[in-house]
Amino acid sequence: MRQPRPSRAASRAADRVAIYPGSFDPITNGHVDIIMRGAAIFDRIIVAVLHNLEKAPLFSVEERVQMAREVFAGEPKVAVETFDGLLVEFARQRGAQVIVRGLRAVSDFEYEFQMALMNRRLAPEIETVFMMPAESYTYISSRLIREVFALGGPIAGLVPEVVEARLRGTRTRRRPKR
Ligand SMILES: Nc1ncnc2c1ncn2[C@@H]1O[C@H](COP(=O)(O)OP(=O)(O)OP(=O)(O)O)[C@@H](O)[C@H]1O
Ligand SMILES: [Mg+2]
Repeated sequence: MRQPRPSRAASRAADRVAIYPGSFDPITNGHVDIIMRGAAIFDRIIVAVLHNLEKAPLFSVEERVQMAREVFAGEPKVAVETFDGLLVEFARQRGAQVIVRGLRAVSDFEYEFQMALMNRRLAPEIETVFMMPAESYTYISSRLIREVFALGGPIAGLVPEVVEARLRGTRTRRRPKR
């Protein structure tokens, strides 16, 4: 029998901690699906928002973290943090044994496979675990969301509501009224 869970702050050494890294610009329902699947099998899952070097992200890292935190406000197993540098170092710092990645299609495989093996070389004690989203989310990527939205297409049902609202905000922010 499982013991009742202690509070979020009281994580124990035996906890299974997973890191789910990405740029999450913005977080989509595909990401949310993977995170909830992760939360079902690990004690804690840390969504790790990469400080990436991409020149023109749509949302700042702070905005991305804020949105993800709002989405998971009611989920004590899910935390949202930022990181830069080597993922495996961040994982070690957090006491994580697992890196979670999502696989949408065969096209994801090659890059993910390379990264998983490189990370294994860097940190043999950390395992990469791949998860598949619900079929209806397999075609969603942040890039596609950004493009469809920029062109005026509907994105309802593809991203959390908080993201939809923020996206609408970027439209007014970027096109000031005259
Ligand atoms: N719809 C989805 N279903 C399952 N996994 C996903 C989905 N979208 C992204 N992922 C996975 O989430 C992780 C983080 O990905 P990332 O932040 O690059 O998202 P992305 O949607 O691929 O964004 P971008 O289009 O900007 O690359 C990766 O492992 C990626 O394969
Ligand atoms: Mg990607």
